[in-house]
Amino acid sequence: MITIKSEREIELMRHAGMLVSKMHQFIKPYIKAGITTKELDALCEKFILDHDAVPSCKGYEGFPATLCTSVNDEVVHGIPSSRVLKDGDIITIDVVIGYKGYQGDAAWTYTVGEVDDDCKYLMEHTEKALYEGVKQVRPGNRIGDISAAVQAYAESHHLGVVRELCGHGIGKDMHEDPEVPNFGMPNTGPRLKPGMVICIEPMLTFGRRDVFLLEDDWTVITQDGSPAAHYEHTVLVTEDGYEILTPRLD
Ligand code: MF3
Ligand code: CO
Repeated sequence: MITIKSEREIELMRHAGMLVSKMHQFIKPYIKAGITTKELDALCEKFILDHDAVPSCKGYEGFPATLCTSVNDEVVHGIPSSRVLKDGDIITIDVVIGYKGYQGDAAWTYTVGEVDDDCKYLMEHTEKALYEGVKQVRPGNRIGDISAAVQAYAESHHLGVVRELCGHGIGKDMHEDPEVPNFGMPNTGPRLKPGMVICIEPMLTFGRRDVFLLEDDWTVITQDGSPAAHYEHTVLVTEDGYEILTPRLD
């Protein structure tokens, strides 16, 4: 069931989304060679708790941390650990924050020091693929319009579209209906209505799109070892288009 949010609910989701944006802004200067992903996680957990909010991933289906930290060939759901970041790495930080029962969710990929041109290309075009999807958000359009726009942009830039994971509706729960795939056909799927809130989140690879799950049962990595990037926004359907509830503050 796809829920339509009331004005009051939208206000709370704006607040949750803004905390997600602020947390990304807060952690950015710490993303440097020498820090561990566990240290990034601890800093973000404290930031969230200090803002009277909840790190919603922690304990979700047994996930052990506040952040998903996915480095290089890790696509999503990397578990913060004693892994030390080094120059040339890319790292996706994905976080869900709850505020008074409502969730905000955003991921973006960061560079550690100077990264190679392939990673720069991958990051630039994964973020642009996200905005191609966001531009399709308006009442009357359908989920497939978003999916097709993301896929067309990604594939025309020769990037792999990971198909095993999707965007999703969001509200009281971090994962609600509908599913928002990053591939598909225009003019298919549920129709968008004002008050719906969805997460659009292309996960793109520099090589083949095939992935597998590590033995930790969380970390998804590319089969060919190529780097992956992931950008995600929480997006409200408005009367005449969209509002990004997790705006970038940088
Ligand atoms: N942002 C991620 C998602 O949309 C968060 C899920 S990680 C989990 O799927 F640990 F919470 F499951
Ligand atoms: Co999400």
